[in-house]
Amino acid sequence: MHVLVTGGAGFIGSHTCLELLEAGNAVTVVDNLCNSSEESLRRVQELTGKPLRFYEGDVRDEALLQRIFAENAIDCVIHFAGLKAVGESVSMPWEYYDNNLGSTLVLTKVMKQAGVKKLIFSSSATVYSAGNQMPLTEESTTGNCTNPYGWTKYMIEQILQGIAFADPQWHICLLRYFTPIGAHESGRIGEDPQGIPNNLMPYITQVAVGRREQLNVFGDDYDTPDGTGVRDYIHVVDLAKGHLAAAKYAQTHAGCEAFNLGTGNGYSVLDMVHTFVDTNRVCVPYAITDRRPGDLAVCYADPDKSARLLGWKAEKNLVDMCRDAWNWQSKNPMGYQE
Ligand code: NAD
Ligand code: WQD
Repeated sequence: MHVLVTGGAGFIGSHTCLELLEAGNAVTVVDNLCNSSEESLRRVQELTGKPLRFYEGDVRDEALLQRIFAENAIDCVIHFAGLKAVGESVSMPWEYYDNNLGSTLVLTKVMKQAGVKKLIFSSSATVYSAGNQMPLTEESTTGNCTNPYGWTKYMIEQILQGIAFADPQWHICLLRYFTPIGAHESGRIGEDPQGIPNNLMPYITQVAVGRREQLNVFGDDYDTPDGTGVRDYIHVVDLAKGHLAAAKYAQTHAGCEAFNLGTGNGYSVLDMVHTFVDTNRVCVPYAITDRRPGDLAVCYADPDKSARLLGWKAEKNLVDMCRDAWNWQSKNPMGYQE
């Protein structure tokens, strides 16, 4: 299969390119590098010993996309490209709607022109409304998002459902990721956030490596066993493999379907800190601070539908995630910037 990966130089995209190449697929990437480095793709090729094709550019550039489809016999598209920082989306809503919705509209327009109608989309557990029972199933209520980023994912899901309803030749999977962390076991590729990390694991690894003084734990008065927030952390390599399973499923299944990609287990912030410290024998000083606005106390998946229909299940545990995240950060203290 020849797969076009939008946003393939990013955190999840680079790990997925690696798995796609290892499984014998041809891979073409389009990425404007607004939140990533071409170095990730160089390392993916080094690790696999296989080449991929890279176009540096914006998915909203219709002429570029037409050229990519004309020059490559694409069978399927995995669409990662987008902006993803929740807090930033509150202060820059227009940029988030323009980038995330605009890239999806241009991409699907050009896919339709090219007759390529198999699409895997990076959605998020953030599309689920607050107030659902845990674990979240694909039938849980969506909408009522608390920030523009979440709304872009919700709206794109609606757009793709409409496209598949109108034309039954489309085969679309909406993959709702829970909280992706970790890195490839080689320590050569991993998460490399720009500026101050928004998310827990990259913050922990930057404290451990000495780039930040201490971790702020956002609240210890939630209704959870230790009072800190509980999430369903999933290893990025398991997540990447979920995309291969979805791409295979999309070969033979028409329509537009949502799938949870999570482990089904919830861990607290302090579980994470303690597992990270014990596994890696490093110090992570922390202080309890106020809750982060918009955070849920608890969020975890029911991954049963993905197991049944995609034949996919997460295999790695929290120790694997903590070990691999530290292996990446300790070998690359400044990320891809040497
Ligand atoms: P990332 O920022 O590392 O990767 C996104 C990539 O897309 C980057 O390489 C960026 O340069 C590129 N990009 C952005 N806009 C583009 C555009 N208009 N044209 C071309 N390239 C563009 O993020 P990630 O963590 O790898 O996330 C990938 C996808 O998964 C995103 O859509 C994100 O919203 C979604 N997602 C991420 C998480 C998470 O916690 N990491 C959770 C749920 C969903
Ligand atoms: C995990 C836990 C925090 C940082 C976010 C987005 C979501 C999705 C993934 C894309 C929470 C706590 C965090 C810190 C802390 N992205 N925390 N100190 O909350 O599952 O989801 O990223 O779709 O949309 O909202 O992940 O890593 O940000 O937080 O105490 O410095 O760690 O309060 O309980 P989350 P996270």
